[in-house]
Amino acid sequence: MSKHILIVGASRGIGLGLAEEFKSRGWQVTGTERSQSDELHALEGVDVATLDVTDPSTFDIEGEFDAVIVNAGITGAKHQSSEKATSDEVAKVMMTNAFGPAHLGKKLLPQIKEGGSLSFMSSLMGSIEDSSGGYELYRTSKTAQNMLAKGIAEQDAKERGVAVLSLHPGWVQTDMGGPNAKITVEESAKGLADVVENASAGYAYVDYTGKALPF
Ligand SMILES: NC(=O)c1ccc[n+]([C@@H]2O[C@H](COP(=O)([O-])OP(=O)(O)OC[C@H]3O[C@@H](n4cnc5c(N)ncnc54)[C@H](OP(=O)(O)O)[C@@H]3O)[C@@H](O)[C@H]2O)c1
Repeated sequence: MSKHILIVGASRGIGLGLAEEFKSRGWQVTGTERSQSDELHALEGVDVATLDVTDPSTFDIEGEFDAVIVNAGITGAKHQSSEKATSDEVAKVMMTNAFGPAHLGKKLLPQIKEGGSLSFMSSLMGSIEDSSGGYELYRTSKTAQNMLAKGIAEQDAKERGVAVLSLHPGWVQTDMGGPNAKITVEESAKGLADVVENASAGYAYVDYTGKALPF
């Protein structure tokens, strides 16, 4: 039987690319959208579910998975400034990029097979060591996500032999990454799929080439 992957946030960009890549590798793919994505529905054989990472009432998804990738993410308010940030703006970016994904990951863990993997789409911008500042809302949400992911690895996933990964996809040509980004969705998705296919138990913060990143 083919392996089964759940990709959360597969309507466009890197998530859609991951759905295409895993499908081409012979995986059974379930991808999620918030509203109808014609591109996702056009992928033959891919199952589509509706899920919003900020709304736990949408977290019930049937199935057993070899791998789950929580890819959904936003940049947050345009100004990106801690001086301008409102409570609502902080709540939105933190729920979407950090606490929603962690809640969802914990909820899905029992549905991940022993020896499988749970990945969160992080960013190198979440690295404190690498940071030169700026993008305050986005950076802190991804740093928080990394912290939550490591906690899930230590407290919840370890005993089940499930690998937990915080992934940096590279700087990718998407709506978020913009047209000047360094790599295509295809390049990123191929690399990320290799990383997920080769994941071993424990926690790792790695980029799409498999390189370990500093916290
Ligand atoms: N592009 C880059 O260079 C880059 C670099 C580092 C990290 N990343 C990370 O990679 C991930 C994907 O980025 P991308 O460049 O592909 O961005 P994108 O093109 O803007 O796509 C974002 C995806 O996340 C989904 N999403 C947003 N909020 C959601 C929510 N509340 N619930 C469920 N899904 C939600 C979107 O769904 P809708 O279509 O419904 O909005 C869409 O599928 C993000 O986590 C991002 O932070 C990207």
